[in-house]
Amino acid sequence: MPGLVVVGSQWGDEGKGKIVDFLAQEAQVIVRFQGGNNAGHSVKVGEELYKLHHLPSGILRSDKLAVIGNGVVIDPGVLLGEIEALAKRGKSASNLRISDRAHVIMPYHRLLDGAEERLRKGSKVGTTGRGIGPAYSDKAARLGIRMGELIDENLLEEKLRFAIPLKNKLLQAFGSETTIDEKKALEEFAEYGRLLKPLVTDTGAIVDEALSRGDKVLFEGAQGTMLDIDHGTYPFVTSSTTVSGNAASGSGVPPSALHEVIGVTKAYTTRVGEGPFPTELKGELQERIAEKGGEFGTTTGRSRRCGWLDLVVLRYAHSLNGFTGLAITKVDVLGGMDEVKVCTHYRLDGRKLTRFPSDLRILERCEPVYESFKGWEDLDSTRMEDVLKGGFSRLPRSLMDYIRFVEKESGIRTVLIGLGRRRSELLDLRKER
Ligand code: IMP
Repeated sequence: MPGLVVVGSQWGDEGKGKIVDFLAQEAQVIVRFQGGNNAGHSVKVGEELYKLHHLPSGILRSDKLAVIGNGVVIDPGVLLGEIEALAKRGKSASNLRISDRAHVIMPYHRLLDGAEERLRKGSKVGTTGRGIGPAYSDKAARLGIRMGELIDENLLEEKLRFAIPLKNKLLQAFGSETTIDEKKALEEFAEYGRLLKPLVTDTGAIVDEALSRGDKVLFEGAQGTMLDIDHGTYPFVTSSTTVSGNAASGSGVPPSALHEVIGVTKAYTTRVGEGPFPTELKGELQERIAEKGGEFGTTTGRSRRCGWLDLVVLRYAHSLNGFTGLAITKVDVLGGMDEVKVCTHYRLDGRKLTRFPSDLRILERCEPVYESFKGWEDLDSTRMEDVLKGGFSRLPRSLMDYIRFVEKESGIRTVLIGLGRRRSELLDLRKER
């Protein structure tokens, strides 16, 4: 700290929500800097389960400022729905600030997302269908609508009167049966603008001021490194920059504001949607991990593909993000297995490959090479308590071996280990090691 970034090192769903929630205790400001409501995480507070898509995790702590940064794309209807759901449970969103530079996801973005996917037939990306790609496309094409415009009815009208007929033509060309009713959209979005106006501001200035005051700011990443638009398994990626560098640009602060970067990795790997996945498992083992790990998407409910931990991916993620610490989550999911494997490198045409290739045709020909570990036992409640009190050395020996191996091979120090579902079942090694 004071500027701490948390990003996923795999294909998303690494358990970032829980890590962010834990680290948020020490921060005054929590900022989301990219992605949209394609993300989703569940946070359990006491007995209450909150499912968040747009709202930063910090929203649940009323003494923190929760910021949606300029790099995010926002579906205002969904955001208002989440704010309303919180209000029904007695939690106010008065600690939320939304960047006036963040872009708006419009209904035509959602429709185009679906229409594009249908047109791709055999080469679908497997998107979440939330309109993320088309919204970022419009941002890059300078056709986007920003939150600062959503809250200005005249500007909004001007923008929509231009955009909607254009998008309707596109939708028709894409074979979509649905188009957008201009009048209805104008009314609906003007109302969203009115409701959100008090929260929309220049959030870059707020984050900058907080850092200048010496406040701790946590930059909360969504998705994961391998879904990054530049560095991921393109085109099977999301449409934003998911790596740590974007925490600065997507929040409106300089890179010098980022002091620490925690990479979150599961003890195994999962992926939703299409695209290559070298260490993917099939059959009984995949089912066992999916079942025990509850590997079903928070956003779409889709079942996640599961596989062994891939150190080629982790090292690659480290080279892109500059991790200062590693959070290994869900080690309990592999508990009770006879054998646990980790991919150390790939073999390609008889040669050893240690760097993740950009060409998916090469990746498809790569064969993962594994190191095998003896599995570790499940921790019962007494053992869990002992580990949480006693620290790293109280972990099962084979799990310690596994973690030390990952650290040695990746060159990243482990700072947090997720041992179970509960908020408290997180082993904090930051002081110990
Ligand atoms: P999009 O972000 O909806 O355009 O989807 C593009 C790809 O990113 C698809 O493979 C999605 O499954 C994946 N994706 C998007 N958001 C998440 C996430 O939060 N977790 C995991 N995968 C995601």
